[in-house]
Amino acid sequence: MSPNEILEWFDQTSIDKSWSFIGYKPSDTGKWTHGYHRYPAKFIPQLVERLMDIYITNGTASVNDPFMGCGTTVVSAISRGFQASGTDINKVAHLVTGAKAKAICPDYLAGKVKRFLSQISCFEAGSSLFPVSQVEPHIPEKHLEKINYWFTPAIRDELGKILALILEETDPAVQSFLLVAFSHVLKTCSIWSQGSTKPTRDMKKRPTPPYDAIKRHLLKMQRGNAQFYNVVPPEIKDNLDGYLDIQIGSATTQAVPDNGVDLIVSSSPYVTSYEYADLHQLSTLWLNLADDLKEYKKQFIGTSYKQYDDKLLLSQIASHIVDEMMPKSRKKAKEIEAFFIDMQKVFNESFRILKPGGRCCYVIGNTKLKGVDILNAEAFAESLQYSGFKLDRLIKREIPLKILPQKRDEKTGRFASKDKADSEAYPTEYIIIGLKE
Ligand SMILES: C[S@@+](CC[C@H](N)C(=O)[O-])C[C@H]1O[C@@H](n2cnc3c(N)ncnc32)[C@H](O)[C@@H]1O
Repeated sequence: MSPNEILEWFDQTSIDKSWSFIGYKPSDTGKWTHGYHRYPAKFIPQLVERLMDIYITNGTASVNDPFMGCGTTVVSAISRGFQASGTDINKVAHLVTGAKAKAICPDYLAGKVKRFLSQISCFEAGSSLFPVSQVEPHIPEKHLEKINYWFTPAIRDELGKILALILEETDPAVQSFLLVAFSHVLKTCSIWSQGSTKPTRDMKKRPTPPYDAIKRHLLKMQRGNAQFYNVVPPEIKDNLDGYLDIQIGSATTQAVPDNGVDLIVSSSPYVTSYEYADLHQLSTLWLNLADDLKEYKKQFIGTSYKQYDDKLLLSQIASHIVDEMMPKSRKKAKEIEAFFIDMQKVFNESFRILKPGGRCCYVIGNTKLKGVDILNAEAFAESLQYSGFKLDRLIKREIPLKILPQKRDEKTGRFASKDKADSEAYPTEYIIIGLKE
């Protein structure tokens, strides 16, 4: 299809209400292990499940997500007994996905969690137990200044001791399970403004004591694990390594062989919206996942830290967006250009790893920035063709309010609270499906 035909195709596609999944409660969208960790702009599992229902016709399929995030695609594939692979540059995403994909025997886990909670129960309010003072708090020295910025000294030390005890756990699956709980509660235990996804301090906030937060969350995770354990096929429970292949790395160069994948279900980052490295910085600091946060951030696609001067943008739709942005902000225009250049590489990689007859499903919304329409979806559709895909299907769906923030700040392009934002963002989004013939 020519760029004009693509634009027309999008114009003529109306919303398919059946893809909005209205009526699903948080207990449905957060079922199994899906509620382990907050993650901005994550999928709902129902969307992935429906795509697998439609496009997977054999029981031994292989499913991939180049931007796996907290692993919605990977977990959904594992629940069906499929091979699952995924990549993310965000080390927190790798930790969370690994823990979510692993169904642990519930009785065994209950024993481990009980033991862990009793080890840290001296932190329970009113406890007369002798504090675990002999445990040296594990606080990464090189991030101490930043940790002190976000945590009171008492909470920092309690978290440090809890982390030290988690690191003593010898079963890697249980250790990851505990680390994910630890990572999840960091926000509520810090003075990071609870209502804000972005790193903002709230000096009036009363952080939740770590023991209370981690106990509550571990019990919730334990229930999720038990549900998941019941649905994962036995052969996967016994041999997860034979089915799961997740990597920390770039979506542009996945460690996945050629022609092996049946279905890709993914949602890319958006240009200049979430800086995932910033959003997960509490976990990155505590778990010591990056030596240099600045360098780490540059590896993310869609970040405002990137621009190219020597690379060609193939998509005419994307080039038009860049040209429109240039007089308004050269910097933003270059960021948008870099984003679409990177995404072209991701689509090339998707084409390489898919089997002939396989499909990629990219979920993406459009937005407006500085008055310029950022037609991500149309540009993606055009780019998919340059990677070799045939455009197979377009689904336009409404996004129920709770899943994505609906507004962007006009000036910065970042997501903002409703009352502050003055530009529509993602009231609808698209699933663009490409076929490798
Ligand atoms: C919209 S989120 C994906 C959420 C995912 N669908 C889920 O359900 O959790 C986009 C992801 O792209 C990741 N990302 C950004 N740049 C990347 C890169 N160069 N390679 C791989 N992943 C990257 C971010 O860390 C983030 O996890």
